[in-house]
Amino acid sequence: MHPPINKAAPSHHAGEDDMALSQQWLERVGPALFPPQCALAVQRYDSPDILLPPPNDAALNRAIEKRQREFSAGRAAAATALSRLDVSDAVIAVGENRNPRWPDGIVGSITHTAGLAVAVVARQEKILGLGLDLEPTEAVKEALWESLFNPTEIKWLSEKNREQQARWATLIFCAKESFYKLQYPLTGQWVGFHEADVTVSLETGEFLLTCLQPLVIEKLSRTRFAGRFASGPIFTLTAMHLEPAGKS
Ligand SMILES: CC(C)(COP(=O)(O)OP(=O)(O)OC[C@H]1O[C@@H](n2cnc3c(N)ncnc32)[C@H](O)[C@@H]1OP(=O)(O)O)[C@@H](O)C(=O)NCCC(=O)NCCS
Repeated sequence: MHPPINKAAPSHHAGEDDMALSQQWLERVGPALFPPQCALAVQRYDSPDILLPPPNDAALNRAIEKRQREFSAGRAAAATALSRLDVSDAVIAVGENRNPRWPDGIVGSITHTAGLAVAVVARQEKILGLGLDLEPTEAVKEALWESLFNPTEIKWLSEKNREQQARWATLIFCAKESFYKLQYPLTGQWVGFHEADVTVSLETGEFLLTCLQPLVIEKLSRTRFAGRFASGPIFTLTAMHLEPAGKS
């Protein structure tokens, strides 16, 4: 069971370093959203450990510094997470559709926003796929609902308190993005935001995503995918994993 809203998440007090508190919060709640075979790490963009410019990638070398920093922080988080699986010196190249190319036998997912990157990895024999997404908790405003959500999702959001709507809209958005990252390395398919329906259990901190994209359903031999979330005052994190066939 995972609490949907972590009451001990970072709060604003004069003099506190929000970024450090958010990092600590992610390091505490993040691993609990995945099975123990997974390794998760968090990295700040402004850490002196971040190597710039990033690896030999023409587009990244031309990119603005913020993009170089988020990319490099994501790779640094991935390297730390991999070291927890005893994998060192791995180069995680950029795939044909921006997907990270993990070392043989490894699956993983990377997310970054607002100064923090998170990566999760696992050995492929234990976990078939991973999806992770981090967003500022009130990122998704009502003007975006139609382009991101289906009627049942909009109905669910409309029934929530107005002050909470941006939080839960962001959660559904994050759930969909984490599903996209989970499924892409396994299917190579694009999935649109209207090709997935998310139902949320605020009581358990879990969500269920129903995939409506026929090729993905066919390739993964299922339509429903479970996920977990943590929604704090500053960040929302969604987590999905697929167990190898026969284990889930
Ligand atoms: C790809 C996408 C999900 C990334 O999400 P984002 O909020 O923009 O950015 P995040 O920081 O959370 O994630 C970015 C990271 O995702 C990873 N990523 C990008 N494309 C990916 C893909 N096709 N498969 C797996 N991982 C991918 C990369 O590691 C990337 O970071 P990097 O470029 O620095 O390596 C988003 O840009 C997108 O295209 N969404 C549209 C598709 C979608 O989400 N559909 C939902 C239907 S259910």
